Amino acid sequence: MELNRRTVIAGAAAAGIAATTLGGTAHATGGRTPVKSLFGKLADGTKIYCWSLENGGTRLKVLSYGGIVQSLEIPDRRGRYTNVSLGFDTIEDYVSSSPYFGALIGRYGNRIAKGKFTLDGKAYQLSVNDGDNSLHGGAQGFDKRVWDIEPFTKGSDVGLYLYYTSVDGEMGYPGTLRSKVTYTLTRHGDWRIDYEATTDKATVVNLTSHVYWNLAGESSGTIYDHELSIAAARYTPVDSGLIPTGELAKVAGTPFDFRRTKTVGEDIRVAHQQLLYGKGLDHNWALDKGITARPEHIATLRDPSSGRTLKIATTEPGLQFYSGNFLDGSLVGTGGTVYRQGDGLCLETQHYPDSPNHPSFPSTVLRPGQTYRSTTVHSFSA
Ligand code: BGC
Repeated sequence: MELNRRTVIAGAAAAGIAATTLGGTAHATGGRTPVKSLFGKLADGTKIYCWSLENGGTRLKVLSYGGIVQSLEIPDRRGRYTNVSLGFDTIEDYVSSSPYFGALIGRYGNRIAKGKFTLDGKAYQLSVNDGDNSLHGGAQGFDKRVWDIEPFTKGSDVGLYLYYTSVDGEMGYPGTLRSKVTYTLTRHGDWRIDYEATTDKATVVNLTSHVYWNLAGESSGTIYDHELSIAAARYTPVDSGLIPTGELAKVAGTPFDFRRTKTVGEDIRVAHQQLLYGKGLDHNWALDKGITARPEHIATLRDPSSGRTLKIATTEPGLQFYSGNFLDGSLVGTGGTVYRQGDGLCLETQHYPDSPNHPSFPSTVLRPGQTYRSTTVHSFSA
């Protein structure tokens, strides 16, 4: 966290908390050994745990169900904490009605047209769960699986290793896929995600994280005043089913141009066919930097009212920016208020949607002997 160790401690002092206890079982670095508590049980009795972590002024709660970020608290410019990630209080809500709040997404982030693709001459049919298409890994994606979680502290970092093995044929995907996701909170309060996966048969993989951000607080209304920049001169236009047409269109002169910072709401009501298809912004930006060995900065989101700022760096070539268009007032979140359209937004770092059906897009194929790797870093300041 850039600012703001001092502000955080000032905030803690104001709240009557001794700075030394900020991190619970404090390390010299301020990191806190992850603490496990029971969150609830699935219908079959499986216990779901909540892991609480804190470091560098960021507080994170993660569920063993879906690797879900149930809460992520950061301070504003005056040191006041709030939860900036939409979510639920109960496991029942996550199981019955979550639009992927905070979840790990796999095996394939976003859509695969008609749930079909061909690899090495063999045709595969995936679970179809979004009209005719397969979305976020199908009906029982990684967001609905129970992950094995191991905590760690390493130097000044604290974090969690999350493991899930997806069996050959699960949701129609070939190969046994062993995934390991590492959530790290650094001493600067950055939340880093490292994804790794291996397979025993050729397959496709595209893992991401589906946090809905609202930097003013998860129950504070819409994100249309948030300022956003995205380092991308092109995006992938979609058809009415939100499947990329294959074109890499220029953002210049369109509502999709976030190269200069503007508010999320500025162009969201422009009568542009693509905005009609998405009921707002729900598109993949083709990041200028492409695939990189190390995470590079690609987007900045800022809430002017609180000063809270999120910077995202990634190794991935794409960013799905979804402006919470399908939130419809039917869900009650952790703050006890109803979530309505635009109350949160997602910035999902990934390969492009439907890549298995677009040979010109960066490949999402993973073969035996290879290791899938992807890293995204979320840095907070105020
Ligand atoms: C997709 C949206 C979808 C949403 C589900 C996003 O990643 O881009 O089209 O409705 O996930 O919550």
